[in-house]
Amino acid sequence: MLVMSSVSRRNVLGAGAGAVAGLGLAAHMAALGRGTSSEAARPQSSGQSLSPFGAHQAGVDTPVAAAHELIAFTLHDDVDRAALGRMMRVCSTDIAALMQGRPAAGDTLPDMAQPNVSMSVLVGFGPGFFDVDGLRSELPAGMQEIPPMQHDALQPEWTGGDLLLWISADDFTSVTYAKRCLTRDVAPWASVRWAQQGFWRGTDAQGQPVTGRNLFGQIDGTANATGASFDGTLWSTDGWLAGGTQLVVRRIAMDLPEWDKLTRHQMEKVMGRRLDSGAPLSGGTESTPLDLMAVNPADGQPAIPLDAHARLAHPSENNGRRMHRRGINYSDHTGTGLIFNAFQANIAKQFIPVQRALDDADALNQWTTAVGSAVFAIPRGMVEGGWIGQELLA
Ligand code: HEM
Repeated sequence: MLVMSSVSRRNVLGAGAGAVAGLGLAAHMAALGRGTSSEAARPQSSGQSLSPFGAHQAGVDTPVAAAHELIAFTLHDDVDRAALGRMMRVCSTDIAALMQGRPAAGDTLPDMAQPNVSMSVLVGFGPGFFDVDGLRSELPAGMQEIPPMQHDALQPEWTGGDLLLWISADDFTSVTYAKRCLTRDVAPWASVRWAQQGFWRGTDAQGQPVTGRNLFGQIDGTANATGASFDGTLWSTDGWLAGGTQLVVRRIAMDLPEWDKLTRHQMEKVMGRRLDSGAPLSGGTESTPLDLMAVNPADGQPAIPLDAHARLAHPSENNGRRMHRRGINYSDHTGTGLIFNAFQANIAKQFIPVQRALDDADALNQWTTAVGSAVFAIPRGMVEGGWIGQELLA
């Protein structure tokens, strides 16, 4: 039985207005593979309980939580296919417990486990996972490292990874508890390669769901593939990965001191959208489609400049290619930026061509530099009594 014990209608609708547009709550919950609850009308923006079971893993198209840590692991050299199966069984049992507010098996600090903290633990398999004996032929089509881009300055400490755990919750205490338990679970088979904390504010001052802002102050996540679940954009139909997806993680440093030297008007032209409302410079509100043909009456120039990020990333400029973005902010001793995360059915066909187009001409490149990069296959969700990755490893 799929349970969402505490979820608000506002939360679900706030998952990304685009993704939910035109769907009633029940339809959207059905699309997520999760049940509705009698508490569905309770207005709150956090405090959810996401089911660890379902067609898809939580943490892809579920509402974006406030606190995040992505942890990538390197597999030990002696790990074989059977060991991967053991690792995923152990890990899956504890993921199910933690998401349901129960402690990990045998944990000495069970009081740390809390229900209704909107926890999800998204598991991904990097290219090195498929180097293990017998798995090479199972590498999903299109899943590949991102080729070098001219604006990259990749650092090894943020790049690669054989296994990903992306833990999300309402607060960092819950995230860090889950990290402690799950890192211990995988320790016999894998060691931490990198870990990145991120955060997101998906509510306004009244607690109402909003799209959220990155650290350039832009509303980010508006044009997130409406109906992506249904049109082959997001979910894979390929072999064992069917029902799963592919994830690109790019740690993108943002040069805030230089950005701050721009006027608001200049900032808006770089993006092609307004800073206050997120509306396209061609007019309307945040959710109005871009009018790429619109011109400014005053000077006859395109209302959305030819090198604006929103124009160059737009599906109509990219042969219809789309992706489902789930960026989170970071700010730490290394600097400030966006942990840009994009899900799609096929990285080679979706992310890479769009990234190349942006690398060539995007005005935003002047203030952004990718300093980390990783790719992961995201298995489908687990069934109750099953485990994540079973369809590949069993
Ligand atoms: C720090 C780097 C980046 C920042 C600050 C940024 C910011 C934004 C913002 C503010 C929007 C407009 C609002 C929205 O629709 O969400 C947007 C749209 C978009 N961005 Fe980015 N972005 C960054 C990097 C990237 C990268 C690396 C890609 C892919 C290679 C990308 C792909 C897209 C796409 C596909 C859209 C939606 C276009 C549409 O359908 O209208 N972005 N981005």
